[in-house]
Amino acid sequence: MAFRSPFAIPRQLLVGTTSLGGRSAISSRLRCNQRGLATVVPPVTQDATGSKGPTAMVFMNMGGPSTTDEVEDFLSRLFADGDLIPLGRLQSYIGPLIARRRTSKIQKQYADIGGGSPIRKWSEYQCAEMCKLLDKISPETAPHKPYVAFRYAAPLTETMYEQLFADGFGNGKGGRAVAFTQYPQYSCSTTGSSLNELWKWRNRLEGKRANGESEPAGAIQWSVIDRWPSHSGLVEAFAQNIEAQLKTYPEEKRDQVVLLFSAHSLPMSVVNRGDPYPAEVAATVHAVMQRLKFKNPYRLCWQSQVGPSAWLGAQTSDTVQEYVKRGQTDLILVPIAFTSDHIETLYELDQEVIHEANNPGVKRAESLNGSPVFIQALADIARDHLQKGELCSRQMTLRCQGCTSERCLGQKKFFAGQEHASMVV
Ligand code: FES
Repeated sequence: MAFRSPFAIPRQLLVGTTSLGGRSAISSRLRCNQRGLATVVPPVTQDATGSKGPTAMVFMNMGGPSTTDEVEDFLSRLFADGDLIPLGRLQSYIGPLIARRRTSKIQKQYADIGGGSPIRKWSEYQCAEMCKLLDKISPETAPHKPYVAFRYAAPLTETMYEQLFADGFGNGKGGRAVAFTQYPQYSCSTTGSSLNELWKWRNRLEGKRANGESEPAGAIQWSVIDRWPSHSGLVEAFAQNIEAQLKTYPEEKRDQVVLLFSAHSLPMSVVNRGDPYPAEVAATVHAVMQRLKFKNPYRLCWQSQVGPSAWLGAQTSDTVQEYVKRGQTDLILVPIAFTSDHIETLYELDQEVIHEANNPGVKRAESLNGSPVFIQALADIARDHLQKGELCSRQMTLRCQGCTSERCLGQKKFFAGQEHASMVV
């Protein structure tokens, strides 16, 4: 079955034939709610006046199965997401069916990278460490409480929201929460999808439908950090990891090593709709190269292309093969659009692309993971956001030129706030 995905689905998720038969995304959500718990934090008191805190800091990302048993639920949600993979009116039926068909193959791949995705471990660590720093550099909004909300794996958005209630936020008590995307570069398929999900659950749990009021008093006040592609701390963290890998080459060869920045691809239909992601990824690459003083030749390439439709290229695997064939065997792959390891780095790059290159000069820069420079950058971005008092970036108020989604419109109006809702076009 061929279909078009607005964001690069890991190639390994899409290999194989589809069949009909599977569980619904809703039941998957419920199962995940039962098993997956949001980050546990001590209760907070919302009525502590005289301070702008406490502040809930919510990291949003796609997530990944922490164990092989979670793979089917993860895939079911992923294929049920029309923002990521538009399958039309039958999305909620077809998506889980495709997922079920692929589950055993993908389980093997997660087994090969250690039994599950490390993204939850890294996200919870990064968020908790960032909050500790924020308590010091932004005492007026302290204490900062860490939460993680994944789009396709535990802890899901609704689980995180219930945890906020349990910790004393919202439900009439108010309080402030910041939705901090962990996709540095904005795509409507990634950050946009996470915000659509957050908006949906906010409305269900404490919006108009929660108690019949138009805007119930004491709801959580949300703001959004929606993109940060060229933040100096992010750039520094990437640059340091590249420099560390460059040092593994003999000094006389070091400047000739080609840097291959690799990001998820997008179907050209999404690019042509006006998605901001390609331009923002390019901005990150340029900023990193500027920091490295353009000492090495470099290219940006795109991974995880699937299906027969046209995708943004050149593909990472083809790029590596082509350069190696030409005799350029010193290459460093740099995952530039994710903030921690996941299956696309640990399996697709390490066990497929680099393994197939079969050359010791082809290597990968470490992912940001526990980089203290990166975590400081997260804290700086969050502090600046809190101090500015902005609800979201101005860029968030502009929909893609080709967007016809009422959900995008409603979500953006909500997060832009009453003052700027009229600017959303
Ligand atoms: Fe980009 Fe709707 S698809 S704003």
